[in-house]
Parts: sequence; C-alpha cells; structure tokens
Amino acid sequence: MNKAELIVALDVPSAEALEARLQELPDFIEWYKVGLELFCAEGPSALEPLKTRGKKIFLDLKLHDIPRTVGHAVKTAAAHGVNLMTVHAVGGRAMLEEAAKAAAECTNPPKLVAVTTLTSLNQDDFTDLGIGRTISEQALALGRLAISSGIDGLVTSAHEAKVLREEFPDALLITPGIRMPDGDIGDQKRVATPSFAVEQGATHLVIGRPIMQAADPIAAAIAMIENMNQ
Ligand code: C5P
Repeated sequence: MNKAELIVALDVPSAEALEARLQELPDFIEWYKVGLELFCAEGPSALEPLKTRGKKIFLDLKLHDIPRTVGHAVKTAAAHGVNLMTVHAVGGRAMLEEAAKAAAECTNPPKLVAVTTLTSLNQDDFTDLGIGRTISEQALALGRLAISSGIDGLVTSAHEAKVLREEFPDALLITPGIRMPDGDIGDQKRVATPSFAVEQGATHLVIGRPIMQAADPIAAAIAMIENMNQ
C-alpha cells in the first residue's frame, strides 16, 4: 500500500494566527486543511499563504444543502485552487451526484470526499438522532451511497476504515480523530493512533490540535509521522 499522508488542520481564527502557525510548522508538511473557522473569518484569502508556499489544500466546508447549491459551491470553491473538498453523505444521492458532476466540470477538478459520521459522534448520539444503525453500518451504507454517486472517497474514523477499505479498494479514506496513545482527546469520541489508522487503510490522516496546540509543533509532527510509519 502507498504511504498515507499527513494533513494538518489549520483550525485558527484569523489570518494573523494562520501566518504565525505556518511559520512554526515544518516545511515537510505538504497538506493543510482549512475548515469553517478560518474560512468564515477570512474567506478565500485564507488560502493564499498556502498557495504561495506551494501546499496542497483540503477545503473542509462539509457541504450539505440542496443539489444545485452544493454543485455551485463546489465550482466556486474549486476555482480558488483547492485539491480536496468535503460534502456530507447524508445530503443524499442527488446532492452527491451533482457535487461529483460539478467537480468533473472544473478546469482543475478537486477530489471530493464524503463525511460518513463525524468522529465527535458516538452510539449515544445516534440514539438521540433517531438513527437505528450502528456507526459501522451507517459508515458502510453512506459509503456505498457516496462512492456509487461518483464521490472519490470518504471521511471516517479509523475504526470504520477497515470495513470501508475492504469494500472500496480504490477510495480515498481520510481519518480525523487522530491522537497519540497518551494524547488529550478534546471533543473527539472515536479516536485512534496514527499507526492504527494507517493499518486500517487510511490514505490521509487529518491532525489538528495534537500538532497545532503542541508546545513544539515540529516535534509533534515528527512524532506523528514516525507513529504513522511504524
Ligand atoms: O484537533 P483535531 O485533530 O481533533 O481536528 C480534527 C479536524 O478534523 C477538525 O478540523 C475537524 O473539523 C475535522 N473533522 C473531524 N471529524 C470528521 C470530519 C472532519 O474531526 N468526521
């Protein structure tokens, strides 16, 4: 299997905070994720410092709306030069197909990945939401829906990755909720170590706080990569 890649989640509130963090983070990090916090604060200009540095961009806006709105959002976002974007699989087949069609029509088509279940949700949350499936059943059902709708891959916890990898040998599998064995889990509920995620078939590991909030982000990134390669 190819080596998995590390994506650092730039969950910061402003362009100033972004610049400060980028100066501390090591050059060897090729992928960065810009999510709702930074994109709502700065808009597309938040992507410029990453483009200037030649980084690959994962724009994580988790699109979930009617098909037309999502399709148009994919096109306008892709025009900013992003490599990877998220949609919510629960948006349904028509929305997923519209997103895939819109991406394919772009000059530089971004890859699309669908969120199956947020890693901050557990089985108790499913009960609250009225979802009768287990997390693993839900991941597989939504994975089938997304991949058969033309989506390139899935965002999933490492705990569901193996089942998805077996079912979808060629899909991108992006796993957030990554922590070192002794790491603080914060609001995540289904966490896993880097090596476990890779072993389960992840292609990209999204890591935020364990690197961004580390006293020494370079050492934290190196430790994560070493753990991934174990
Ligand atoms: O700080 P931490 O490593 O928990 O950050 C994980 C990142 O991955 C956050 O930016 C979060 O929005 C994102 N994410 C997630 N779970 C998903 C999809 C994305 O935690 N299912």
